[in-house]
Amino acid sequence: MNDNAKLTVKFFGLFIACALGLYFFSYYVMLDAKERKGWFVFDPISHEHVKEPMEMDWSFDGIFGKYDRQSAQRGYQVYKEVCASCHGLRLISFRQLQDLGFSEAETKALAAEYNYDSINDDGDIEDRPGNPSDRFKSPFANAKAAAAMNNGKAPPDLSLMVKARPNGANYIYSLLTGYESAPAHAELQPGLNFNPYFPGEQIAMAAPLQAGQVEYMDGTEATVGQMSQDVVNFLQWTAEPDMEKRKRMGIKIMILLSVMTIFFYAAKVRIWARVK
Ligand code: HEC
Repeated sequence: MNDNAKLTVKFFGLFIACALGLYFFSYYVMLDAKERKGWFVFDPISHEHVKEPMEMDWSFDGIFGKYDRQSAQRGYQVYKEVCASCHGLRLISFRQLQDLGFSEAETKALAAEYNYDSINDDGDIEDRPGNPSDRFKSPFANAKAAAAMNNGKAPPDLSLMVKARPNGANYIYSLLTGYESAPAHAELQPGLNFNPYFPGEQIAMAAPLQAGQVEYMDGTEATVGQMSQDVVNFLQWTAEPDMEKRKRMGIKIMILLSVMTIFFYAAKVRIWARVK
């Protein structure tokens, strides 16, 4: 091999390595935490799960994943009628619900059902009805009050909960559907409930869902499994309202990189053709 040929091989090798690197990086960026598990992410918390969460099929999984808006709307109803009495969604405003298919008028009406503090012209704090730009607040005045009313544990904010737990969507689904009566070996502490999916198996939240607890407008039967699935679809959306945009962008970048690879290879062949 002469020097030119060696240089060509080196250049080409480097180019392929960079292209592959970029390609996998952009693919990786599009994956969700759950799918990244088993690639090269060290996951220090998951082994704490007493029982591995059930693996469900979610419409938002995978690089072409999308939200099931019908289900997420029902999930919003579950959140509003059940979970909201304990959990806030401090990162989500009423107007964002338009992304799930609610109209502007509907979000206005929803917001107006809640009261927020405002300061009047005399500097006193007054109640005002919510605006679409207001966010879902916690029903408790502060974390201590929340803990005092819930067996010593404050109900956490749910906006990012799907992202805050390893394998979040499957975990929350399993948690909500997985309540059991405590086996003989478990020494249940007062006020706590047995749930094999919760680290430590004893959770301060009593099973929040019972069959038929909400009445769905679209006639879907409100089983515990159905409501859990719907509320997880909703919470996945609250954790990442822009997921579809992110995945679309990733796909565009991958197509761009593929086209660029061909283009640059052709350019390289032409440029080096003159060197004998
Ligand atoms: C009566 C109050 C109450 C209601 C209603 C309630 N929760 Fe909870 N929730 C709690 C409390 C208290 C905790 C903290 C539990 C603990 O740390 O032991 C909690 C914790 C959680 C967690 C976090 C578990 C973890 O891994 O730390 C999730 C997820 C959750 N709730 C989801 C929901 C959903 C979804 C609903 C509605 C279907 C709901 N909760 C309804 C009180 C409630």
